[in-house]
Amino acid sequence: MSGIQDAGPQARPFADFAVLPEAEIRERVRTAKRALGSRLVILGHHYQRESVIEFADFRGDSLKLSQLAALQQQAEFIVFCGVHFMAESADILRRPRQSVILPDLRAGCSMADMAGGEDVEEAWERLVAAHGDTLLPVTYMNSTAELKAFCGARGGVVCTSSNARAVLEWAWERKSRVFFFPDQHLGRNTAFAMGVPLAHMAEWDWRSEDLDGANAPCYEADRRLILWRGFCSVHTKFTKQEVDEARAEDPAVKVLVHPECPFDVVRSADLAGSTEFIIEQVRQAAAGTHWVIGTEINLVRRLALEHPEQRVRSLQKSVCPCVTMNRIDPAHLLWVLENLLEGHLVNVVQVPETVRHYAKVALDRMLSLKGSGTPGPMARD
Ligand code: 13P
Ligand code: SF4
Repeated sequence: MSGIQDAGPQARPFADFAVLPEAEIRERVRTAKRALGSRLVILGHHYQRESVIEFADFRGDSLKLSQLAALQQQAEFIVFCGVHFMAESADILRRPRQSVILPDLRAGCSMADMAGGEDVEEAWERLVAAHGDTLLPVTYMNSTAELKAFCGARGGVVCTSSNARAVLEWAWERKSRVFFFPDQHLGRNTAFAMGVPLAHMAEWDWRSEDLDGANAPCYEADRRLILWRGFCSVHTKFTKQEVDEARAEDPAVKVLVHPECPFDVVRSADLAGSTEFIIEQVRQAAAGTHWVIGTEINLVRRLALEHPEQRVRSLQKSVCPCVTMNRIDPAHLLWVLENLLEGHLVNVVQVPETVRHYAKVALDRMLSLKGSGTPGPMARD
């Protein structure tokens, strides 16, 4: 991970906090928050655990949180309770005197790790050699700042699960082909819902040794979308069989999934959209609605708690947590807040200047798109 500043020598070590009892941590987080006042803003992704999200000043999906990060004027410290690529995006969009802090730097994203800068560059060169100047790169928010800069420098753009449709429309108005990374499923599900047949898509297998042979369809002239073969280790585990079983158990059930789920899961669901979209569907539904939801378990449990008037359960009967999102816990939150109070910035995420400029170009392009906050619901077959 790039641009991470270590805790200074005077900062208090995390080990002092790891051993504290839960109730004391909670009380001290409250006190530290109060003492930091308007110098601090805490942003929390919907997948955060209950004991962390309760301290968030704002909650959101990755699009909303990037918009919120860009809007912060007063706060000196933006503590990001989410994962590393989200904190990096907040750092790119922050104002000069602000710092972005990720309470646990091990909170990465296995999907973002599947697309390395050199591998993407090599793929791009081969694809441009085959297709000429007909390609635009689009990276999912779940990627490193380096890949966002790669896109920004080549006329490309970032997307999130909330705005992938608007971004792909924008991209295809400019070039006839899109190279989309790292999540094959978001790219495929969105493009298919827009009317692009599977036959006009191809996968780029970054693990293949034989890039000329194994990826031959990528070089065919009728391919409009080249998909990096990345996936989310959480959402890829949902299956169509689970959807079928849920419907067999309860014919009235509505199946609501995140577009990082595999193609057949999204096609057999009633609705698919970002975490913000999922929350909105449940919020607006009539009392007595039955839901099975295919996304991270912290969010599903929260929806079940907040909507006792509806029946909400996970599409997967065995629990499916995002390990890295769950690395952020109250002890790490307290550790960074009390160090801030004592003048020590720990776990600052700082994108290098050489990367920042073009990464911001790609993020700003996304944020300026009209209708980019409107999720495109994906219809059932
Ligand atoms: P959202 O764009 O819905 O916030 O999703 C981010 C994510 O990491 C889902 O796995
Ligand atoms: Fe990454 Fe998946 Fe976790 Fe989202 S849920 S942060 S895509 S591993």
